[in-house]
Amino acid sequence: SAAQKDGHDWFMRKEIHEQPRAVADALLGRRGVDGRLQLDEMRLSDQELRDIDKIIIIAAGTSFYAGMVAKYAIEHWCRIPVEVELSSEFRYRDPIVDYSTLVVAISQSGETADTLQAIRHARAQRSKVLAICNTNGSTIPRESDAVIYMHAGPEIGVASTKGYVTQLVACYLLALYLAQVKGTRYGDEITQVVEQLEAIPAQIEKVLAKAEDIYRLARHHVDSRSFLFLGRHAGYPVALEGALKLKELAYLHAEGFAAGELKHGPIALVEPGLPVLCIVPPRGRDQLHDKMLSGIQEVRARGAHTIVLAEEGDDRIAPYADELVTLPRVPVLLQPLVAVIPLQLFACELASAMGHDVDQPRNLAKSVTVE
Ligand code: G6P
Repeated sequence: SAAQKDGHDWFMRKEIHEQPRAVADALLGRRGVDGRLQLDEMRLSDQELRDIDKIIIIAAGTSFYAGMVAKYAIEHWCRIPVEVELSSEFRYRDPIVDYSTLVVAISQSGETADTLQAIRHARAQRSKVLAICNTNGSTIPRESDAVIYMHAGPEIGVASTKGYVTQLVACYLLALYLAQVKGTRYGDEITQVVEQLEAIPAQIEKVLAKAEDIYRLARHHVDSRSFLFLGRHAGYPVALEGALKLKELAYLHAEGFAAGELKHGPIALVEPGLPVLCIVPPRGRDQLHDKMLSGIQEVRARGAHTIVLAEEGDDRIAPYADELVTLPRVPVLLQPLVAVIPLQLFACELASAMGHDVDQPRNLAKSVTVE
């Protein structure tokens, strides 16, 4: 009923709007009195965590794209090598895992069969398993050595939204916790990132306040049949997630690419009028922003219709944006938390305008319990 949906037409739209609250809840109670990070359900000792020399993240669907962001964060903050692998591939390729490997299973439902079988395989090789999960008492956390709960609240829409952002928060917390235990980052540096995370709910609100603009943009594209998404660094997995949302909900051809790969193939797909959604990294001292800018120029020179997501005040990008969506200024590693929001709104509205059932897309299930 409409009441259950808080007046929204779809659970998905309700859940998109719950994200500021969900992120705040995911962060609740993580700081101890001494200011240090604490993770209540972290049942692995500091010594066990210090002994870890490799992390393998396994997940499916949207959770896999959260895992790709986690790799960037963990390697940057903790200097531990991280692989990210689809659950369905992991077990069947004879992966190298042992007692010094931490396998991190990311699953909103905690019931995805591929992910469950993957952690069983990992534990049989004596590796430690940590679950990032939203569902208390579900199978994956029950079979894991430790768990970080996402605290998103129940997610009804089949396409994950608040699940994704709270998975990201849990991944950042894990990365910071490992950095704290291993001493690869100082306390005040960790506190600074936690404070940046605590600022995210208000920043997501700012993006949501402009939802109508995104909806208008989405309805404008109701006749488009193909979309590209481009990103770099942490924006690359966001491009993949944005494309997945359009496939799931609007049943349209949508592909995400690392912007640097354009010239190695994808640019051949560009023809006049093709909508290309571009996630621009924040401006900084690195060259990421400039590289992304040149990618946008290249697709635009070939007639693409560019829908550009860039931080507010990014004047250099504006001339190359047919449509400009502004994002709050956040560090590059945290940018997925704000950049994904317009992409969720876009897919939700486009699918809705096409007359599709946004909450129950055809052929899909909320939780896939068969391999
Ligand atoms: C299904 C859902 C997706 C979800 C994926 C992984 O495909 O439709 O939204 O991302 O499963 O689910 P999990 O519960 O393991 O995160």
